[in-house]
Amino acid sequence: MDTEKMGQMMKERREEVGRILKNYLPPIDGLQKTVLEAMVYSVLAGGKRLRPLMMLESYRLFGGSEKVIEPFAAAIEMIHTYSLVHDDLPAMDNDKYRRGKLTTHAKYGEAMGILAGDGLLTYAFETACAAFSMTDEPARVGSAMQVLAQKAGIYGMLGGQVIDVESEGTKDMTLEKITQIHTLKTAALMESSLMIGAILAGATRYQIDQMEQVARNVGIAFQIQDDILDITSTQEILGKPIGSDERNAKTTYVTLKGMEASVSEVKRLSREAIEILRQIPGDTLFLEELVRMLTMRNN
Ligand code: IPE
Ligand code: IPE
Ligand code: MG
Ligand code: MG
Ligand code: MG
Repeated sequence: MDTEKMGQMMKERREEVGRILKNYLPPIDGLQKTVLEAMVYSVLAGGKRLRPLMMLESYRLFGGSEKVIEPFAAAIEMIHTYSLVHDDLPAMDNDKYRRGKLTTHAKYGEAMGILAGDGLLTYAFETACAAFSMTDEPARVGSAMQVLAQKAGIYGMLGGQVIDVESEGTKDMTLEKITQIHTLKTAALMESSLMIGAILAGATRYQIDQMEQVARNVGIAFQIQDDILDITSTQEILGKPIGSDERNAKTTYVTLKGMEASVSEVKRLSREAIEILRQIPGDTLFLEELVRMLTMRNN
């Protein structure tokens, strides 16, 4: 696929995600107006929308064509955004900018930052529940819901954040531990995205496992690239401060193995993801191109 066509497709699909999000975000009113405003602010601040994009494409790949995917696409971006809002808090990475704007706590205060994150996490499940009344296959919705919870929780993203925070400033970081942090804190939500698309479209167990594996590779590569960009990019391009990892004494793949090894590991993991995608019958071209794009991303 040529880059111009891919660029156009990405634009259209991001707009599609934007429409879905607007449809499912809560209205800003009532006495809890401030936290609702903070929730909507965080989600609509921008972002690449990768996880909903991946979910919608996985659903299409396995033949899905109904609206039942939409509440889940909104839910995964709410959960991802909550993870960023809390990641930026003073007690965590203590960052002031995100998606080119003030972080939620910087704009609304720390208490509202915590509550807006909590609000987004809970509202994500409230939102996904709408899928039950949109399908003749409620068992699939139930199993998608389970994956959504598992991959966000203590055995997924949250667990990764715990290990990440506890590893700050320590000298005993190993490659194995870093890979585990990346698998949980970053890959888990991507796994959730590709798996839920497949589950709701009625893919087989084997295919769901393949999608999990693709997302694991992409997620680990994505985090290594994020750690590279934390050193080599600029705040203008990234929309978030650079140097956050050094300031927080994080050992990353880059500090452990060096820049060159990191760049080639991103490529290796992405190649592996593309190889798995190619084994899947159906049109995997968009996903393949997306994986390739992510290896070259600068934001
Ligand atoms: C940032 O994720 C957090 C990491 C997992 C590195 P993204 O880079 O996808 O953030 P947005 O959604 O585009 O802001
Ligand atoms: C966080 O990793 C991943 C999350 C689960 C939020 P980072 O702390 O490196 O993410 P950024 O760089 O702040 O986006
Ligand atoms: Mg962090
Ligand atoms: Mg951070
Ligand atoms: Mg980072």
